[in-house]
Amino acid sequence: MLDASTKRLIKETIALFPSDPKPLVLAFYDRLFELAPRTRPMFPDNLEKQAQKLTEMLVWIVDHLEQPDELVGQLRQIGGRHAGYGVKVDHYADVGSALIWMFRKGLGKNFTSEMEQAWFATYAFMSGEMERGQLADVP
Ligand code: HEM
Repeated sequence: MLDASTKRLIKETIALFPSDPKPLVLAFYDRLFELAPRTRPMFPDNLEKQAQKLTEMLVWIVDHLEQPDELVGQLRQIGGRHAGYGVKVDHYADVGSALIWMFRKGLGKNFTSEMEQAWFATYAFMSGEMERGQLADVP
């Protein structure tokens, strides 16, 4: 599980997010499609709703950092649904890279290297649980 300092840095990052994060989250998708163009057809043409869901998910995760059982259960369920979206385990690295890029772009020098390390650890944890849920769903 994540240690106390990682969780603190994650909460600090989210607290620095702009009050309207939509443009930044949409830029995350641009970055993802630049890094991994093959993922574009998996998503709907209009990404507005998707951006909203991703923002809500990030906020939910941050709110549940102190409830690991709930967090793991939810991540595995989402992972299971991702099998149905055509997501493969090797897509996770590109999404992680686009996510860290989004924080760098959005927060500039307020996104410290400690925060970056904390997000590497958290994304590894999140994607690990999602992949577990996803693989459990693959026949
Ligand atoms: C830790 C990593 C990730 C998180 C937290 C996450 C979160 C979410 C959430 C909350 C949804 C909304 C639908 C649902 O709850 O089932 C969603 C949908 C989706 N995600 Fe992810 N996701 C992650 C990684 C990925 C990866 C690696 C891909 C691969 C490209 C991906 C592709 C998609 C697609 C295609 C949809 C559905 C779009 C649609 O048809 O509405 N996600 N994701």
